[in-house]
Amino acid sequence: MLASGTGSLFKALVQSQDSLGVDIVALIVDAPVPATDIAQASGIPSYLVEVASNRTEWDFQIREILDELQPDLIISAGFMRVLGPQVLAGFEGRIINTHPALLPAFPGAHAVRDALAAGVQETGATVHYVDAGVDTGPVIAQTVVSIDPDDDEESLHERIKSAERVMIIDVVRDILTGKVRYDNGRVVTS
Ligand code: GRF
Repeated sequence: MLASGTGSLFKALVQSQDSLGVDIVALIVDAPVPATDIAQASGIPSYLVEVASNRTEWDFQIREILDELQPDLIISAGFMRVLGPQVLAGFEGRIINTHPALLPAFPGAHAVRDALAAGVQETGATVHYVDAGVDTGPVIAQTVVSIDPDDDEESLHERIKSAERVMIIDVVRDILTGKVRYDNGRVVTS
């Protein structure tokens, strides 16, 4: 898994390993973040790969870790970086991301703030396969979250994250059972 934040989505997946029948083999983070503590408490190895000044090197480093681990699925859960070409080339169709908006609306790092600023009445969350763009890959699932008049960024994001925690687990289950699969840049459901 990939994370950059508090890791509440990562934690939800850690707690669902048995019911999903999966093993989370590692956590990769791009900074010293609280998600690492969750990994440590759960006995999951974590790798800190900081971008520093060289994105190409960063991309190669992550690719090297993934080549060694050979995960069936890579889950970006609050990972605030665009993955590089090495990682994408090696793992196309095996990387999913969860995003706190109804894509294609409000891509990027400030999706919750942008939805509030736009004055929309509902937003939500999206799980999608990752491609080279910023939150542009094929959409697997979405959940709508309504915006309350007194919402601020924090309260709204917490409600969206509650929805994300449920949806990411459902999507992982659907991928494992073959209900959802990736085929040449498209999502196929059966
Ligand atoms: C989620 O809303 C994710 O979509 C976004 O960052 C949040 C991660 O939250 N990109 P957490 O660190 O798992 O609590």
